[in-house]
Amino acid sequence: MRICIIGVGHVGLVSAACFAELGHDVVGVDDDPAKIAALSAGEVPFYEPGLQDIVSAGLEAGRLSFTGSHAEAIPGVDAVFICVGTPRREDGAPNLAYVQRAAASVAQLADRPVAVIEKSTVPVRTGERIKQALALQAQAQGTGMIHRVVSNPEFLREGNAVEDTLRPDRVVVGADDEHAHALLRDIYEPLLAVHDCPYVATDVRTAELIKHSSNAFLATKISFINAVARICELAGADVQTVADAMGHDARIGRAFLNAGLGYGGSCFPKDVEAFIHIAADLGYDFGLLRETERINREAKSWPIAELRRLMWNVTDKEVAVLGLAFKPGTDDIRDAPAIDVIEDLRAEGATVRLHDPVALHQISDRWPDVVRCASAEEALEGAHAVVVATEWDEYRAIRPERLAELLTYPVVIDARAVWDPVALADAGLSAATVGQPRTEVSVL
Ligand SMILES: NC(=O)c1ccc[n+]([C@@H]2O[C@H](COP(=O)([O-])OP(=O)(O)OC[C@H]3O[C@@H](n4cnc5c(N)ncnc54)[C@H](O)[C@@H]3O)[C@@H](O)[C@H]2O)c1
Repeated sequence: MRICIIGVGHVGLVSAACFAELGHDVVGVDDDPAKIAALSAGEVPFYEPGLQDIVSAGLEAGRLSFTGSHAEAIPGVDAVFICVGTPRREDGAPNLAYVQRAAASVAQLADRPVAVIEKSTVPVRTGERIKQALALQAQAQGTGMIHRVVSNPEFLREGNAVEDTLRPDRVVVGADDEHAHALLRDIYEPLLAVHDCPYVATDVRTAELIKHSSNAFLATKISFINAVARICELAGADVQTVADAMGHDARIGRAFLNAGLGYGGSCFPKDVEAFIHIAADLGYDFGLLRETERINREAKSWPIAELRRLMWNVTDKEVAVLGLAFKPGTDDIRDAPAIDVIEDLRAEGATVRLHDPVALHQISDRWPDVVRCASAEEALEGAHAVVVATEWDEYRAIRPERLAELLTYPVVIDARAVWDPVALADAGLSAATVGQPRTEVSVL
């Protein structure tokens, strides 16, 4: 199959490399010249485990190529995957201008009827809009070409994207005719031949809704356990054990029941907000999701509230923040909860000493007052307190006794529950661990 991928970012590049790995001929096109220059030189422009290897393999095998020219990429292909961004607009609704532009390129440049496949996360009924736009353009050009529109939502997790794409939990394909379904089945056949997973074939609208429903549900699960964490702190109970025991129930499952700093990243915050808008546009008030968002805001402001409680004044203190990426395994900081923590500390007049093993380069021009540290120890040394914002394994490995040696004041805000609260107390540290009984207040 000859495939074009429009937008080779986190989703598009992984999809392009994995489709090439599965034996298809893939060309990736992107409007960002720096990205195309890096990829043409064989370099992956962001951190994603395992991606470099399959990009290099695809390039070497001649099955994968990149270009900045839509006119080079689109003619001659059978299927075009739209993988461009759908960021939030100021009012929270998704901005579909990039999707529209990508569809316009196909309408103008395709030399044969193709399948136009939405992989970007889009509101329900976007497929109909794309179909209309394609038909209008064909009419204007006098080609009479009828392209098929398919929804094939993406469920990969950054940090595990290659594995998730080659061995997904499920493949969802929404199409409104048999020919389009058959084409997508052919594209996924090499994957399904080696990896047995559910293949959900449905209509376009249903497939579009599956994506927003899945992300909104997972975000709600996170907010649920964060609300339980607040209750555990007040009641003197242990949220980890609550979550473990809940997770043993097969109807609930343990995943996404980790109390912490709330959800972040490029998807959950914008997709929850978008789903509220989509529902409202259709005439439904999705109040549950507004509560999910409220609890998430509360989760992100938990560290500053705990610092005030344990330190009295945070102003003029030096605070080590461990972790910037929105989760371990990625250097993506889009909507990372750590950003809220840093902003809260700066607003309070504290000096932030920041460490992250891979994401610090993302803030080269931002926050000149934030001290960027090459190691966790450097961030901790002499700081008055520490906040753990991302649960990187290397932070788990720091012993509480070492923390006590490095910190000027013994204040630990473990917003990701990386350390054992008993061990922290034994080391003489005054600690607040998310979802654990509240400790004595120490006025410093
Ligand atoms: N990142 C994730 O974990 C993830 C997971 C599932 C779904 N999604 C969804 O997938 C979509 C893409 O997300 P992403 O994280 O890959 O975004 P991204 O910002 O990393 O990549 C998007 C790319 O599209 C390019 N682009 C935009 N308009 C273009 C155009 N008209 N022609 C060519 N290139 C164009 C941009 O230059 C950029 O490189 C979004 O809708 C997102 O919600 C993302």
